[in-house]
Amino acid sequence: MRYAHIVGWGKALPQRIMTNDDLARIVDTSDAWIRERTGIVERRIAGPHETTATLAIAAAKEALEVAGLSGHQVDLIIVATATPEHIFPSTASLVQDALGADHAGAFDLSAACSGFVYALSMGADAIKAGSAETVLVIGAETLSRIVNWSDRSTCVLFGDGAGAVVLQAREQPGGVMATLLRSDGSGAELLILPAGGSKMPITPEALAQNLHTIKMNGREVYRFASRILDRAAREVIQKAGWNPEQVDLFVPHQANLRIIESAARALNIPMDKVFCNIQSYGNTSAASIPIALAEAAATGRLRPGDRVVMVGFGGGLTWAAAAVQWSEPRAFHRKGRTWRQLGYSLAGLRSRARRLLRHVEDRIFGSLDPALSNGKSSTPANRPRPQEQSTTSEQKR
Ligand code: ACO
Repeated sequence: MRYAHIVGWGKALPQRIMTNDDLARIVDTSDAWIRERTGIVERRIAGPHETTATLAIAAAKEALEVAGLSGHQVDLIIVATATPEHIFPSTASLVQDALGADHAGAFDLSAACSGFVYALSMGADAIKAGSAETVLVIGAETLSRIVNWSDRSTCVLFGDGAGAVVLQAREQPGGVMATLLRSDGSGAELLILPAGGSKMPITPEALAQNLHTIKMNGREVYRFASRILDRAAREVIQKAGWNPEQVDLFVPHQANLRIIESAARALNIPMDKVFCNIQSYGNTSAASIPIALAEAAATGRLRPGDRVVMVGFGGGLTWAAAAVQWSEPRAFHRKGRTWRQLGYSLAGLRSRARRLLRHVEDRIFGSLDPALSNGKSSTPANRPRPQEQSTTSEQKR
């Protein structure tokens, strides 16, 4: 039997820190209100050159480093994000290119704040089914780019960052033991980015009404989250064949400290078994759980053999949970590190070379095909157009 073990982890956070006091200079709020209602003290905000892809790439490199693997050894890359680099191409394809992961498939996954746990489940299933050996699962966000900085009810909540894990097939039991994925689309409008999709393209009117920024019914989302967090945890614990007392660490989505505390009470899990870093980063949506996992592993809160339960919830509405037995990272080879760095530099050069080659091909071969070279139809003047062709066959009948 194949098991999907987490063998590497990493995180990337923008340098710039925005404190509650900084926010109080922008909107009518206060450090006391934000701390008391949410538990957030500060968050990270992406700089002009930081994007969802750059953060995802940095977190992925760190995770591969812990796993002692190169991009070349990855079979599948899944980026969970609500703030992709573009609608298409996928952010995952940009990550694949930067890592030189030339044997990997790559796609983005959209399930808002539940996205990382959804992606972890997809990645583990690909390993268990035998279609992949090594999967890179990333949660990455630049929510600061879609926040309305004049709406105090939302702008105080969110932050930017990325986290990543490497899943790898092993024969011995452990790794992702059970997952649970759920959705309730009747609550779609409770947390929504109204404009920028097929229903409402971005127009000057949409921009004027700030419809390209996050709209949230905070109270309803709060009620939903408080209801499902402990329920989903309980269900996945049962699915894994564990009981709540056996859980060593509970890693919930970091949206609001009050929601986390009430779920811990309902589950009868003491707060020292609950990982919280919301005070430092705010709500980083799909990135919050992998960032928390990377910090928990780095600080010794997660050790090999530990049972960890993670629960994500958010827009959709969606929620998802996973029960994971934590694994040993692969042996760390310092020598391998130099090779991996060299591999990334070569990947960059190769990517540039491919772009150049495409450009040259276009100049040479494009001119041989009139359809490609000047946009005119390649249909010879004397060949009937499709419309005319169908008329001709009609007439024949
Ligand atoms: N500073 C000061 N006052 C504020 C602020 C602020 N930043 N924001 C709202 N208020 C005011 C409101 O205007 C309201 O004033 P009023 O009573 O005069 O109308 C008052 O504070 C209370 O507002 P509530 O919305 O009732 O405040 P609540 O205690 O519910 O806290 C919060 C609001 C923090 C947003 C809470 O509802 C919450 O955390 N909801 C869940 C949000 C969440 O988790 N979202 C993410 C889900 S995951 C994802 O997919 C992105």
